[in-house]
Amino acid sequence: MNPVVDILSLDHEGHGIARIDGKVTFVDGALAGERAEIAIYRKHAKYNSANAVAILKASAQRTEPRCKYFGRCGGCSMQHLEASAQLAAKQRVLEDNLARIGKVKPDVMLPALHGPSWGYRTRARLSARWVDKKGGGLVGFREKRSSFIADMASCEVLTPDVSALIQPLRDLIGMLSNADRIPQIEVAVGEHVTVLVFRLLEPWSEEDADLVRAFADRHHVQIWEQAKGPDTVRPFWPDIAPELSYSLPEFDLVMPFKPTEFTQVNTGINRALVSRAMRLLNPQPGERIADLFCGLGNFTLPIARSGAEVHGIEGSTELVARARENALRNRLPNAHFAVDNLFEMTPEKFAALGHFDKLLIDPPRSGAIEVVKSLPDCAESGEGHAPRRIVYVSCDPATLARDAEVLCHVKGYRLEAAGVANMFPHTAHVESIALFER
Ligand SMILES: C[S@@+](CC[C@H](N)C(=O)[O-])C[C@H]1O[C@@H](n2cnc3c(N)ncnc32)[C@H](O)[C@@H]1O
Repeated sequence: MNPVVDILSLDHEGHGIARIDGKVTFVDGALAGERAEIAIYRKHAKYNSANAVAILKASAQRTEPRCKYFGRCGGCSMQHLEASAQLAAKQRVLEDNLARIGKVKPDVMLPALHGPSWGYRTRARLSARWVDKKGGGLVGFREKRSSFIADMASCEVLTPDVSALIQPLRDLIGMLSNADRIPQIEVAVGEHVTVLVFRLLEPWSEEDADLVRAFADRHHVQIWEQAKGPDTVRPFWPDIAPELSYSLPEFDLVMPFKPTEFTQVNTGINRALVSRAMRLLNPQPGERIADLFCGLGNFTLPIARSGAEVHGIEGSTELVARARENALRNRLPNAHFAVDNLFEMTPEKFAALGHFDKLLIDPPRSGAIEVVKSLPDCAESGEGHAPRRIVYVSCDPATLARDAEVLCHVKGYRLEAAGVANMFPHTAHVESIALFER
């Protein structure tokens, strides 16, 4: 017989937490305050993992998932929790991490940035497979905890145009002779064009190429192909199409990009995030500012627009070339860029970059500990040496909290403000922003 448990709280991944004879049990599909019948699918030494099979007492925050594949598809994990409660949960994750790992508390919690919860996703990596049994192609996200592709024909978080392409893409894959040699289709939605990058393990045959061209024409998308690494990506059909780009109207910026280059997945929230970052950083003419992990210049160019001198540093040569081109296109000669591995930052290398009044840091999930440790200690520097303000944009609150501990307890900064941005509604992903002042 299945156990019945009371769900005590929600973990950072959106699972309910229960205890069975004292042993922590993470329950997929159950919310805090609920009573659920569960099926344990894995027993570990210290905890169990389980699925909720029936909700016997539902939370007031439970809502009907909009997507019919929710629960099987691994793309979303929180559609059963009301949108405002998702935001509150993400805010709690941020506060918990800052307190537990960083031993810091922001002076001010910023109101969460949020936008439309559906149809927001402009980037995705869809898996593709030819499946004999099902008599056709599968295109979509992977199933939860599985390497199988979810049998889906639409998606509520992809932009509606891209969602409407899933079934036609499945049909296309079903017709191609090299279908088993196309493991992935990457999607990038720009303001004037949608690009689909087909990862090809072998070239198209002539007949396949005709089918793909006809697909692109019928659905008004541009198809790119990628034979090997990201440097092999190139347009396939049509060869002339509008440029892939997004804009930041508040800063009068247009940002062209290639479909394989990093851009934030949620264009609306990205605009709000950039806007908030600029208000917190408050760049001024005459200031010298660094934008670390600058990518294609998403924050660098808005900083440059203020008149400050800005130095973007980034590990990817391709992205730095793109950032330089974007600065040129937007007529911002005060934006300078360099390629460097910021995971190898040292106090000497940081000092050699010269004095910065302010920093913006937007690292990958692993955070920016080497950068943070390279800043002058509070004891060793006078007022003029260390950047007096740091805006830290983070896609993992645990590493933000770890870095905040060093900033606040070693480097002499104060955590003035922090808040979340709901970059990925219905997933457990927590994007956040923090302001440190010295
Ligand atoms: C979260 S993205 C932010 C990019 C940019 N700020 C934006 O908003 O589009 C993190 C960036 O860090 C870069 N990166 C990853 N590892 C790095 C490293 N070791 N050194 C420098 N940059 C790195 C990635 O290429 C990526 O552009």
